[in-house]
Parts: sequence; C-alpha cells; structure tokens
Amino acid sequence: MKGTPMTDSQNENKRPTRFLSGVQPSGKLHLGNYFGALKQHIALQDEAEAFYFIANYHAMTTVQDRDLLAEQTLAVAMDYLALGLDPEKAVFFRQSDVPEVNELAWMLSAVTGKGLLDRATSFKDKVARGITPSMGLYYYPMLMAADILIYRSTVVPVGEDQVQHLEMTRDMALAFNNAYGEIFPLPTVRLDAGAKVPGLDGQKMSKSYDNTIEIFEEGKRLRKRVMSIVTDSTPLEEPKDPDACNVFSLYQLFSDEAEQEELREKYRTPGFGYGNAKQILFEKLDAYFAPYREERKRLENDLGYVEGVLAEGGARARAEAQKTMRLVREAAGIPGMPVSAVETT
Ligand code: ADP
Ligand code: TRP
Repeated sequence: MKGTPMTDSQNENKRPTRFLSGVQPSGKLHLGNYFGALKQHIALQDEAEAFYFIANYHAMTTVQDRDLLAEQTLAVAMDYLALGLDPEKAVFFRQSDVPEVNELAWMLSAVTGKGLLDRATSFKDKVARGITPSMGLYYYPMLMAADILIYRSTVVPVGEDQVQHLEMTRDMALAFNNAYGEIFPLPTVRLDAGAKVPGLDGQKMSKSYDNTIEIFEEGKRLRKRVMSIVTDSTPLEEPKDPDACNVFSLYQLFSDEAEQEELREKYRTPGFGYGNAKQILFEKLDAYFAPYREERKRLENDLGYVEGVLAEGGARARAEAQKTMRLVREAAGIPGMPVSAVETT
C-alpha cells in the first residue's frame, strides 16, 4: 500500500476538527464495539463537531433480510442513545438518509486504481469466513471513503481493523485532489486504548466468532455468558496469574487501579477459583450497564423519539453532504445538483 502519514501532527489541513465514524447494524453490539468504538465516539461529542452514522448500506453485504436489517438499524440507534449519545451535540443519522454518498463513491472509483482495492485485507478476511464475495463487499472501502470525505471529516475514531480503510481513504482523497483541486482534507485515524477487547475464547471479541458478551444482555443470560469465559486448568488450591486470564482482562475494562490490585491479590490466594473471579466480573458488568439498560428500555417505548432523532440528523448530514457534492460536481465537470435535491439552507 502506498500509504500516507496519518498522525495528527502531519494533518496538513488546518480545518477545525470534525469527527466522523460509523457502525454497521450487522448484529447485536458487544463489549468490543463498546470499548473499541461507541464509548469513545460518545466521549468525543464534547470535544468537537461529530458526525456518527449507522452504516446500513454497508450491512447489506451481510444482512439480506429486510426486516432484520431495519430492526438492527433501530437497535443500534437505541444503543447509542441509551449509552449517552446526545443528538444536540453530535449529528446522528442513518447512512441511507444521505444517498449522495453513493454518487461520491462512484466519482472516487473513477480516480482509484483497482490495485488499491485488491490489497484490502478485510475483503479477504471476510471471504475466508464464508461471506459471499459480492461486488458490494469488494467495493466496501470505496463507500467507506465516500462516507468520510462527503462530510469533509478530519478525524476518524475507529478500531485497529479499520486502519487500512483509512489509509485507502487518504489515497483516494489525494487522487481526487490531484485530478480536480483541493476539495478534500486528508482525514487522520484515531485509535483508542480499548482497541482490542478479547472474547470468551480469548480471540478478538467479534460477532463472527460467536464469542461475544452483548452490551445489553442481562440477568441469567448475561451470567451464563460470563461463566463460559475460557480459563486454564490451574487447580483451585494453586495461585493464579491474573495477567494470563481472560476474566481479568475484561474486568480491567470496568475497574480502577485499586479494584484491579484487590482482584490481583485474590488471584494469588490459594482457594480462589476462576468461578469466583467470574462472579466478581458478572456483578461489575451488571452494575456498570444497569442505568444504560433502564434508559434503553425507556427508548424502546418511545420509538417516535428515536425515529425523530434519526430523521433530524439525516437532514443535517444531508445538507452538509450536498454542499460538498456541489463542489465536487463543479470540479469534475458534472452539471450542478438538480435544483429539487438542493437544500435551501
Ligand atoms: P465485529 O467484529 O463484531 O463484526 P465490527 O467489525 O462491526 O465488529 O466493528 C464495529 C466497531 O467496533 C469497529 O470500530 C471495530 O474496530 C470495533 N470493534 C469490534 N470488535 C472489537 C474488539 N474486540 N475490540 C475493540 N474494538 C472492536
Ligand atoms: N467499516 C466500518 C466497520 O465495519 C463501518 C464504517 C462504514 C465506517 N463507513 C465508515 C467507520 C466510515 C468509520 C468511517 O466498523
């Protein structure tokens, strides 16, 4: 990959920060999504302008049941709102409410070498996991680049697995700018400390590995998931190594230094078993998400509000996207936006 430097200090554009990120509604969100994405997205809404969306066009590459896609899209919206996304601060919307991204993706594809997409590792990984190698799956990074560039975003907070997509986005932006002038800022990536949350089996937690703990799981089912975390076979009467234990890794996400030290001490004490550690983790997790669960239940009974938030966010995002598309069309020699589609703002 050609790649271009991606650190903030090298972000040559002097625009004010605009965060943008998206999450696919391809299943129920889990602790990996929370610590690797949602939690930081929500925190960043207080730092600068932020655009967050639910990538339902992208999810079409894996979810081809209409009811399920619509249901999961709404579920992700409720998850974000329950966890603290404030629609007064961040622009929160459905990807498909801005159909212009597809037009931009096409325009970017005209200046992007096919070799760039051939090198995308996420395509290869997904095909290796049995997902159909459709054109959409192959084209996925083009649409993602358009998502980022159409809002002229400057910083994209994502997990480790998305870094290559950001490098590709920068290459596409450069190619477009070289052909048509400086339209797009080059976005930088922002990685968070929670970049890799382990799953029940110790691999990366992921919907595709059936090793997740869902954010909004509760009661017996939550307990059952926690109890099925894989541990080694150190006998009860022997001291255990917290740093080699999945239960402890997950516990660290929810606790402060003092609490961690306390649990470390217990691990070193003969007679303390993994079952005890799991019970402690379960209680911690259960308490941590309890207020968010309450809020989510409230939202489930107020779907009109949720729909309203998405509709309003969609209109704001679309107006912004249309501004960019006017510049892009002008630069590319494609006659201006049809009048009926242009917002009157
Ligand atoms: P999944 O692997 O479950 O399909 P996605 O690929 O849809 O998850 O990821 C959505 C977001 O959550 C991305 O920003 C990704 O980096 C983050 N994420 C997913 N799994 C983890 C994990 N185990 N640890 C940290 N971040 C994760
Ligand atoms: N590909 C991202 C994921 O699977 C989702 C996504 C789509 C995205 N478009 C984006 C993330 C734009 C950041 C910016 O997690």
